[in-house]
Amino acid sequence: MAQADQGQPARIYGAAARHMHWITAAAVIVMVPAGLAMTYRGDTLNIWDATTNAMYSAHKLFGFLVLWLVAGRLAYRLLKGAPPDEPTLTPLQKAGSHLVHWLLYGLLLVVPLLGWIGVSLYPSLTVFGLFDLPALTAPNQQRAEAVLEIHGKLAIAMALLACAHIGAALYHHFIRRDGVLRRMLPGLK
Ligand code: HEM
Ligand code: HEM
Repeated sequence: MAQADQGQPARIYGAAARHMHWITAAAVIVMVPAGLAMTYRGDTLNIWDATTNAMYSAHKLFGFLVLWLVAGRLAYRLLKGAPPDEPTLTPLQKAGSHLVHWLLYGLLLVVPLLGWIGVSLYPSLTVFGLFDLPALTAPNQQRAEAVLEIHGKLAIAMALLACAHIGAALYHHFIRRDGVLRRMLPGLK
């Protein structure tokens, strides 16, 4: 949220938006390689032991939590808006960054949602054998495999887009030396 400062809208994201950004970013940065390691161990090496099962359970649990965090973050963003664009950006840079941000939001919702639909179809809803996630649909294993394949491909697409996004943030900070990264840094007032 842009905080008011002497009648002027703030140039940086509000504390809540920045916290939610960095929690989501950390979750995605950990979950994509962890998801690939988990399917490599299970599907490729065909090792289905307690460690593989724990990796799948942790993936389902954290992915499920990310979904709700992103839903909250998106609602907050839609209600409170964002600070005005960094003034030195060209119209093309503004349009490009908005497009990437909204694509990231879309993928942040669709990827975990497809994971949840996939494990509902399989069905493989248990988390550490302690409880089940709620089922979203009736079982259909063939469809589960198709949905989980799309889930994995879109997760990789999101990771690639996030790499471009991170590259852009670093370019702004270290090469253009403008205020773009500062807008999102934690610990600012
Ligand atoms: C932001 C959240 C998530 C990210 C970034 C993510 C990422 C990934 C990645 C990278 C893979 C490996 C794909 C591959 O090897 O081709 C994967 C697989 C998988 N994910 Fe997720 N995931 C998320 C959320 C979820 C959720 C919420 C669930 C279920 C509740 C879930 C269930 C699965 C399952 C079952 C697989 C294995 C699919 C297979 O064996 O082919 N994921 N995920
Ligand atoms: C080291 C990692 C990252 C850095 C340095 C970074 C940096 C930034 C910066 C500076 C902004 C504000 C841009 C602006 O105001 O024009 C931003 C916004 C955003 N970032 Fe990141 N980011 C990182 C990782 C991620 C990841 C992994 C995701 C999700 C997959 C993500 C999703 C978003 C979204 C959706 C916005 C738009 C926020 C809004 O306007 O509501 N970021 N990021």
